Amino acid sequence: MDLPAQQTTGPYRVVLVCLGNICRSPMAHVVLEARVAEAGLADLVEVASSGTAGWHVGKPMDPRAAATLDRAGYDPTRHRARQYDAGAGAAYDLVLVMDRDNLADVGGRDARTGLLRDWDPVDPGGEVPDPYYGGDDGFEEVLAMVERSSDALVGALTRELAGETRLR
Ligand code: 4NP
Repeated sequence: MDLPAQQTTGPYRVVLVCLGNICRSPMAHVVLEARVAEAGLADLVEVASSGTAGWHVGKPMDPRAAATLDRAGYDPTRHRARQYDAGAGAAYDLVLVMDRDNLADVGGRDARTGLLRDWDPVDPGGEVPDPYYGGDDGFEEVLAMVERSSDALVGALTRELAGETRLR
């Protein structure tokens, strides 16, 4: 997908959405926020995450997700799970979900809404598979997908927020 033009005021607002908001979207949240900061965009881009289900609201991320992030040098400790509020969709400029079930649950694809892996330069348009019922390998796979996609997205955000997109 192309980067949607900003509709909100203040920072460009991105929300990452999965089912439980304890594995995939929290990992994507931490990685994207770190990449945004490294790119010098911390004041211009706001990252959030939530889950379509409310089962884990208020809890920290899954210990396997946290351990995977920690091993790779990220800080997983600040996360607390939230539920996605479908009525608050207009509060975001970009809604990126992990799989096709999530996409259906947020109301389907539109100009602001797509898959995180639409941004994956290696294998675009795929899903970030749910690692919850699998082993540690699944979490490492999620991290690799999230890192690749976040790098590409931050490239687009840098171009957009530096005004270069409008010059093309
Ligand atoms: P997530 O993974 O959507 O990546 O956070 C899951 C977390 C919890 C459950 C399923 C998936 N669950 O069934 O509780």
